[in-house]
Amino acid sequence: MQIKSICCIGAGYVGGPTMSVIAKKCPEVRVTVVDINEARIDAWNDKNYNSLPVFEPGLAEIVAEVRGENLFFSTKVDKAIEEADMIFISVNTPTKTYGKGKGMAADLKYIELCARQIAKVAKRDKIVVEKSTLPVRTASAIKDILDNTGNGVQFQILSNPEFLAEGTAIQDLLNPDRVLIGGDISNKKGEEAINALVEIYGKWVPKEKILTTNVWSSELSKLTANAFLAQRVSSINAMSEICEKTGADIYEVSRAIGMDSRIGSKFLNASVGFGGSCFQKDILNLVYIAKSYGLNEVADYWEQVIIMNDHQKNRFSDNIVSTLYNTVSGKKIAFLGWAFKKNTNDTRESAAIKVADNLLSEQANLAIYDPKVKEKQIYFDIENLESRPISENKKYLKVFEDPYKAMENTHGIAILTEWDEFKEYDWEKVYQQMNKPAFLFDGRGILDKKEMERIGFVYYKIGLGDESNTSLK
Ligand code: NAD
Ligand code: UDX
Repeated sequence: MQIKSICCIGAGYVGGPTMSVIAKKCPEVRVTVVDINEARIDAWNDKNYNSLPVFEPGLAEIVAEVRGENLFFSTKVDKAIEEADMIFISVNTPTKTYGKGKGMAADLKYIELCARQIAKVAKRDKIVVEKSTLPVRTASAIKDILDNTGNGVQFQILSNPEFLAEGTAIQDLLNPDRVLIGGDISNKKGEEAINALVEIYGKWVPKEKILTTNVWSSELSKLTANAFLAQRVSSINAMSEICEKTGADIYEVSRAIGMDSRIGSKFLNASVGFGGSCFQKDILNLVYIAKSYGLNEVADYWEQVIIMNDHQKNRFSDNIVSTLYNTVSGKKIAFLGWAFKKNTNDTRESAAIKVADNLLSEQANLAIYDPKVKEKQIYFDIENLESRPISENKKYLKVFEDPYKAMENTHGIAILTEWDEFKEYDWEKVYQQMNKPAFLFDGRGILDKKEMERIGFVYYKIGLGDESNTSLK
């Protein structure tokens, strides 16, 4: 079975970059990415490549190369479904905000809508690929809908979870650690569908890196991978608090344990807490699945990863308040970074939002600077904070395009995202412009303590305790 035409439903952080890379690597395949969000599609079609809705290093160059050749962005969902041999579903699967499973289970309404629309439109056999992250056994619900509401055509369902991380999406897609494809290996049609997708990835991914499994293993592997990764961050963050109390240094501890090849050195950076649209949502989903099978110990085990992460964000803001003499009311505090990590404009679940909420509750004035996040997005993010309604919070939170202006006349600066440019700032100049004592809270551990103290800052680095505590007296 040779795939000539692909449709991807959902032009978001996954659909856009993933399909751009497929289009680049498979010039003979026509790839159409569709979305109901017209503004998003317009932005993908913008002549100015700096206006694409997703910022990822290397993405604009690929879009410039293939858009209009074999990559298309459109709002005509039915047409794209009809024309496609293979349809990727890459829509959002957020945590449910209502009804049973509220605050935990994945909301599958967008997935179901896609399945119903595919069933309604498809007039010939199709392969449907789950690209979204889904609870284990969702494929059977999708198949049920397709088979019961369709026009009598055959559907093969594959699970092909996406492992890209934002900020490195293009590199991750071009050189993935592995590609995972789950399918119905018990019948010939299922095998043919798997092979068709293997052929697509085989254009640039070595065959030994393309894993094929049963559907349930594939669905569950995605939740498992995210749970393990998030657990590592919560583990190192838990140790960062012990370091601060004992005089151990989390950067030395990370290095020491990371050299153990069984542990490995990646993903051991202590931080102000993990964010992003995936980790929390997927762990909550896993916790919900475990609970629904009555596996309460399993559920509690994974829930602790989230509890630790919430604690890390809260203790960062608590530390700012207590260091600034137990009051930040009326004091100007600058945030460097709003995105949930560097090299992305995505702010979903960013630690900065929670830290801002906590400080706004204490009546601080916040000055925000992020190199890639727009003011409109930041105001959108503070719409539903616990501290105050946005109409009030807007008076206390200002967004700056110039980092030096943001940091002028502040009592404190908090680093929330590890953008490289922060390391290059003229910190002497920043210090001169601040109220004294000048407090600097490095939630990403990117600056040099000795240098910052030499300049005159009172410098707090996550995971580093009081220096007087480190000698063997
Ligand atoms: P996103 O919110 O950026 O994009 C989803 C898009 O789907 C939106 O533009 C939305 O308008 C569109 N959409 C929703 N329903 C639709 C419908 N019925 N028809 C057409 N379009 C529709 O989400 P995302 O970050 O791209 O994530 C998508 C999925 O991929 C999620 O399940 C997520 O868990 C998973 N995932 C995300 C990442 C990541 O880094 N963001 C990584 C791996 C997996
Ligand atoms: C994650 C997974 O890595 C990816 O495989 C999956 O497809 C989607 O979810 P993403 O959320 O985009 O990717 O970024 P990631 O690099 O995993 O970072 C997540 C959060 O953890 C960020 O806030 C990051 O700053 C934080 N983090 C990561 C740390 O605090 N310390 C680390 O050592 C690593």
